[in-house]
Amino acid sequence: MIITTPVASIASSDASLPHFDRPTYLMCPPQFYDVNYVINPWMAGNLHRPSRDVAFAQWKNLHYHLQRIADIRLLHARPGSPDMVFVAHSALVQHGVAAISSFAHQQRQTEEQHLRRWFQDAGFLVWETPRETAFEGEGDALFNAGGDHLWAAHGVRTCQHSHRHVADAWHTGVTSLHLVDPRFYHLDTCFAPLSGGHLLYFPGAFDAASLAKIKAAYGPDKRIEVSELEATRFACNVINVGRNILMSPVETDLVARLTGLGYEIAELELTEFLKGGGSAKALALRLSDSNVTNAV
Ligand code: ARG
Repeated sequence: MIITTPVASIASSDASLPHFDRPTYLMCPPQFYDVNYVINPWMAGNLHRPSRDVAFAQWKNLHYHLQRIADIRLLHARPGSPDMVFVAHSALVQHGVAAISSFAHQQRQTEEQHLRRWFQDAGFLVWETPRETAFEGEGDALFNAGGDHLWAAHGVRTCQHSHRHVADAWHTGVTSLHLVDPRFYHLDTCFAPLSGGHLLYFPGAFDAASLAKIKAAYGPDKRIEVSELEATRFACNVINVGRNILMSPVETDLVARLTGLGYEIAELELTEFLKGGGSAKALALRLSDSNVTNAV
């Protein structure tokens, strides 16, 4: 079903929409993964550098660790869509409604049709986003831990005018944040709301007005600031399920800081995906509601 009007009342009451009692994610294997073009600064210098074999081994290891704490659905990879493995940017999902991305770059727009079909076949309500106001799914829009407020970024990929339209899919409040450093071109490279009500984030990625909004929402005891070094190792691009966090090695005291707050960290090598500009979080799209974290 394709819809163009707000559906929160339908979504919250329609028992026929997909519902997940356990944390559930969508992943797409790196069968056709490569760096074929440059649409973010991390891809520059890495054209055709990823090893497909190593990428597959790293992806399978991430899949192994994630399926211990969550259910995983698979999306078939397609030739001609080398970034499809970064499935988190293809949609934003909550309450059985999937807001489908309108990618800013033509190179990723071919992915949209495959995602749309998958969500339709799986029974989700599909919320379309206009081509003229780019929107890049969980790359640039993340619910808070309670699942009742949306944080959305603009400045590089996603257009600010898409924010209200996307939030209308759930009749939810949305706070817009302005990204100012091209290395942190997606919100999920510098901002991660965690299950314990904490925020893992890199302040240098945001303008002053955005930082003020972040500080108004998260008190000092809830903000976990990462350094520029940590941020460039994709320290914020984490998958968080309950108290579990899956992330690339950062090699600082960040793991100890997170452990001290009650999180359990698994550090997984994802070097081949860093060459494409993404890490753990970018490789899995959340399908269950953002506050369903009780499986651990
Ligand atoms: N090559 C992909 C792109 O630029 C990588 C996406 C990874 N993004 C991320 N938020 N970590 O679209």
